[in-house]
Amino acid sequence: MDKTKILFVCLGNICRSPSAEAVMNSLIKQRGIAERFEIDSAGITGYHAGEPADQRMHRHALNRNIHLTSISRQIKSPADFEYFDYIIGMDEQNMDDLYRLSPNEAATTKISKMTDYCSRHPHESVPDPYYGGAAGFELVLDLLEDACEGLLTHIEKDEAPNN
Ligand code: 4NP
Repeated sequence: MDKTKILFVCLGNICRSPSAEAVMNSLIKQRGIAERFEIDSAGITGYHAGEPADQRMHRHALNRNIHLTSISRQIKSPADFEYFDYIIGMDEQNMDDLYRLSPNEAATTKISKMTDYCSRHPHESVPDPYYGGAAGFELVLDLLEDACEGLLTHIEKDEAPNN
């Protein structure tokens, strides 16, 4: 069976989307289904390309036993839009940018927003924590843990044989 390929996207690919990648990798490993997925992340911008994740984000994630390992890269259009099955933005600005970068209608249908999958939090975006304090990094992780569970449920329904 083909792997389900998920690309998480934020502005810089050093805080939110690498954390989403790591939270999702941790969840699918815990559930014993890691081999069915390919998970990656990218930034709308390439400002931090080649850098590891932000040290503050690293520390907050590590407190939850989440290890951030990815190196920042910029999203590629059309290649990423063709390759991945789900392309998931963190906030409204990411969504506008993803729709703008999308090469065609088929690719556009792959785009969704992370908080659409939350069931325990009413937030409409995963806020950028870069210029804020500790609470912002904790909120990012709370939202991502909620959303990753919802996203997995959504994918299982999407991929059910009678769907
Ligand atoms: P991210 O956070 O989009 O969650 O990776 C940011 C990181 C860096 C910047 C903005 C947001 N920046 O302006 O450098």
